[in-house]
Amino acid sequence: VSDMLIDSFGRMHTYLRISLTERCNLRCHYCMPPEGVDLTPKPQLLSLNEILRLAYLFVTSGVDKIRLTGGEPTVRKDIEEACFHLSKLKGLKTLAMTTNGLTLARKLPKLKESGLTSVNISLDTLVPAKFEFLTRRKGHEKVMESINAAIEVGYNPVKVNCVVMRGFNDDEICDFVELTRDRPINIRFIEFMPFDGNVWNVKKLVPYAEMLDTVVKKFPGLRRMQDHPTETAKNFKIDGHHGNVSFITSMTEHFCAGCNRLRLLADGNFKVCLFGPSEVSLRDPLRQNASDDELREIIGAAVKRKKAAHAGMFDIAKTANRPMIHIGG
Ligand code: GTP
Ligand code: 5AD
Ligand code: SF4
Repeated sequence: VSDMLIDSFGRMHTYLRISLTERCNLRCHYCMPPEGVDLTPKPQLLSLNEILRLAYLFVTSGVDKIRLTGGEPTVRKDIEEACFHLSKLKGLKTLAMTTNGLTLARKLPKLKESGLTSVNISLDTLVPAKFEFLTRRKGHEKVMESINAAIEVGYNPVKVNCVVMRGFNDDEICDFVELTRDRPINIRFIEFMPFDGNVWNVKKLVPYAEMLDTVVKKFPGLRRMQDHPTETAKNFKIDGHHGNVSFITSMTEHFCAGCNRLRLLADGNFKVCLFGPSEVSLRDPLRQNASDDELREIIGAAVKRKKAAHAGMFDIAKTANRPMIHIGG
């Protein structure tokens, strides 16, 4: 890993999340305000060629994992082409995608052929009416189909992201765990995080300790697995279950010390931490014909400004950030 990707705390950044679009075919409460968000005009968004140029710089500096996010990455028309070219970057080991699964099922075979190595699918409820409430759209059965299709094309595990919100889906935790009994599903319970426009409230946050307690009561065979230091998730096994159960504890037990993640947003801004307003444009110098070395310098300087950890859950709730739909998680 080149010096460009090492921060002042010695963390090596080998994982780049690329938001391919600000658009989405759902309208989840926890991701955007009811009125939606302003979309960046198309000419100000990165073209596929610009994304590939920047991705090349990151991968030749040590990034070995790219995750495509959004908005919803599959609404981008050139998604297969993007996968095809990104997966060919020498040194890249993982090309992943986080998707809401709405239109994934039919796109999966092509995406896999184009080099996509794994998919994480968001699903917050097993009850169709609750899905419609949360996402302000229909489509629950399509997401379920996509999860099955992802298993069928051979992704293993298929990670299912479930943002737990008190009074909404905290009563479904054990039903979600049941999904792991016979299938290679890794269900990941995520603590609800604050972003601009998502009306976060500490009362809606179900802390990790409480979720764990709920699962252990029903599944006493739950055992913690050894996690890689850069993992976002705390991973568990249940004897006899094919899949796994995990918790992503950004709020009550953050994992910033092992952070290896950087973000490139759809408008070409570069973000070194999920939380906090600090961003720098890579698009502008790129369009002013900056050389690779000049771009590397801008990236390296931003990485060196990265803080040790996010500011704590009450402070991040007060700090300006973008809405989640722009950041892609
Ligand atoms: P894997 O690569 O499969 O481990 O997935 P991931 O957890 O890196 O990515 P995913 O898009 O599935 O995100 C799952 C949850 O973790 C989402 O709620 C993200 O917002 C959250 N998450 C991802 N990266 C970070 C991070 O750097 N910091 C924090 N606090 N949360 C993150
Ligand atoms: N808190 C926690 N996770 C969130 N996600 C979206 N908004 C939030 C939030 N406010 C999750 C989505 C998706 C991933 C990229 O981030 O469910 O799986
Ligand atoms: Fe779309 Fe995902 Fe945000 Fe929901 S969480 S609005 S599916 S980007």
